[in-house]
Amino acid sequence: MNRAAPRVEVMHGVNLDMLGQRDPRQYGTLTLAELESLVEGYGRELGCTVTFFQTNAEREFVERLHRVRHTADALILNPGAWTHYSWAIHDALEIAGLPTIEVHLSDVHAREAWRQVTVIGDLCLATVAGRGVEGYREALEHVSRALRG
Ligand code: DQA
Repeated sequence: MNRAAPRVEVMHGVNLDMLGQRDPRQYGTLTLAELESLVEGYGRELGCTVTFFQTNAEREFVERLHRVRHTADALILNPGAWTHYSWAIHDALEIAGLPTIEVHLSDVHAREAWRQVTVIGDLCLATVAGRGVEGYREALEHVSRALRG
């Protein structure tokens, strides 16, 4: 991949628009807009162009995945609770066919049993969980390494 600035789309799913009003012990205190602005800055430092998408509608998330290969080279995905059961999102991610890192703000591996299940993990290069906003920097580093080969 020779593109000077890899294009990375960060996709947030259900309830992530409520960051700042959710349990701060799990999700921190940043709003989604504040988180996105930090992640955009991490992208600039790494020479990536970062775009963002969030929806609470599973259909919109799936439809975005259908189109995203035309506008991005890689994905960072935090589908929220859909992570744990949406085979529709699994299949749409397979269709997208882009290198993907799964990110969770909280440490889903140390929470309820149902949160320890990920139906998208098998399609992702890596899962980063429990690192808060810093997890997105790690994910960006990972995809930019993968894209620059
Ligand atoms: C989350 C973890 C999910 O279990 C939860 O449903 C979310 C957020 C996270 O970022 O920690 O909505 O994906």
